[in-house]
Amino acid sequence: MENKIANNAETTPPKISRRNFLGKLGIYSFLAYLGGSALATIRFMFPNVLYEPSTTFRAGSPDEYSIGSVSTRWMKEHRVWIVHSNKGIYALFGKCTHLGCTPNWFEAEKRFKCPCHGSNFDVQGNVIAGPAPKPLFRAQISLSDDGQILVDKGRLENNPDKREGKNFLLSV
Ligand code: FES
Repeated sequence: MENKIANNAETTPPKISRRNFLGKLGIYSFLAYLGGSALATIRFMFPNVLYEPSTTFRAGSPDEYSIGSVSTRWMKEHRVWIVHSNKGIYALFGKCTHLGCTPNWFEAEKRFKCPCHGSNFDVQGNVIAGPAPKPLFRAQISLSDDGQILVDKGRLENNPDKREGKNFLLSV
């Protein structure tokens, strides 16, 4: 008989009163709220920052670009052509001013052609055909202390008056 009572006591789950249950629910809810707040605060300490690559690069010595040439050497890596005209050296940014595709340089025709909608640009970057509304942009160009060409794609200009200024045309 005693065994039966003991077995019953082991198998019957302990009764929890409504007050007890609500009390525990309140405590756990509060702890969950505190935990969520703490996590949100910790997340706030690490803001979403995008680390973008530098906009500047060294493009070698001016001697490496012969007069009259359009160099595609930096196109793949930096999307820039280095052009050596009889006025000086400039860096043409390879982004079509229509919808942003990358034009190609056609040496035989001396023009840049956009594969997307057919815009054509002359060696200066001026529009000569197609829907592009503005000339190609030039990137800022200068000479570094060690005599190398320094191109900054963070500063662009396509105004025909300003792009011939010293920041966008390197006299060599
Ligand atoms: Fe170049 Fe449309 S993106 S012509």
